[in-house]
Amino acid sequence: EKAGFDWFMRKEIFEQPKAVADTLLGRFNSKGELVLDEMRGISPEDLRRINKIVIVACGTAYYAGMVAKYAIEHWTRVPCEVEVASEFRYRDPIIDPQTLCVTISQSGETADTLMAIRHARIQGAKIIAICNTNGATIPRESDAVIYTHAGPEIGVASTKGFLTQLAACYLLGLYLAQVRGMKYADEIRVITDELAHTPQMIQQMLDGADEIYQLAHDLASAEDFIFLGRHVGYPVALEGALKLKEIAYQHAEGFAAGELKHGPIAIIEPGMPVFVVVPPAGRDQLRDKVLSNIKEVKARGAHTIVLAENGDDGIEADADLIIRLPHTSTLLQPLVATVPLQLLACELATELGHDVDQPRNLAKSVTVE
Ligand code: M6R
Repeated sequence: EKAGFDWFMRKEIFEQPKAVADTLLGRFNSKGELVLDEMRGISPEDLRRINKIVIVACGTAYYAGMVAKYAIEHWTRVPCEVEVASEFRYRDPIIDPQTLCVTISQSGETADTLMAIRHARIQGAKIIAICNTNGATIPRESDAVIYTHAGPEIGVASTKGFLTQLAACYLLGLYLAQVRGMKYADEIRVITDELAHTPQMIQQMLDGADEIYQLAHDLASAEDFIFLGRHVGYPVALEGALKLKEIAYQHAEGFAAGELKHGPIAIIEPGMPVFVVVPPAGRDQLRDKVLSNIKEVKARGAHTIVLAENGDDGIEADADLIIRLPHTSTLLQPLVATVPLQLLACELATELGHDVDQPRNLAKSVTVE
């Protein structure tokens, strides 16, 4: 069943090119327009009427929602909030019939998320679910569903679930832009083309697995890990840290790199591994800021592991190790940058002798609030 892999998680990481390709399959017509039949429960008129989007999800799915917020606000200029479902539900959020609620859940059974959408529905919001499980409770209680076609995810730590959620979020953002009138038509065309190539790019990251496994061996005795990113690199950092916590039981924290000097930099000690996601070329202001964050941690003795695209050659001086990424648009970078962090967590947990598929204290689907 594990197709020769030691863990379901590792198998699922390696299934990601196909999982993402399957999630994108059949969603564009020959003119490159999105055809989302699943949106039938919410008409284009409904989507043109909305004036606010709220995204609710938990854990890794919440990080996918953070990426979605950047993409959706940029492409549609509709204000978009993202919140963990357990907080959203109990703070009396402002929702009305012009609010679109987007929920993201691999299992479709997460209790916090379900309660959040029930609350949104009572206030009159339309609900779109992004879900991997056909006929689960969350899609059943939603007006429309974009299914991710990842296939069953067995490992408790979500991997292909996350990447396919990202793909579905991009589809939703592009669809909203298409329906509401595109502000950035050229950019959107580029993104649409690029999206079709992301399965090969993810494969390239997997082809470099041995380098990441070596890194996992080198870091086996580290006790604290820091992950930094800006923009969509920030949720990638959070996801990298969560994977390490979940299966390797290591203390790991993700931060928005700009927040470093507001506190977290105090914990940097000589030799501490710090992973930094560098935005692609073209976002030069953002990139320069990240490069100064690398300098800041390096100056305090951190062991810097920098994820940067091929050809980005301004970083050697401050990077102890560079993990190369294929060139992408900034918004799509999480699809490639997450992969080495998944491989690292899987390999480190294996090295430390943990049960990667069934980590202690965790359940695949959290069906209690
Ligand atoms: O099934 P869901 O996507 O609703 O699950 C949400 C979280 O419980 C889930 O992503 C959790 O954080 C994973 N264990 C992360 O690897």
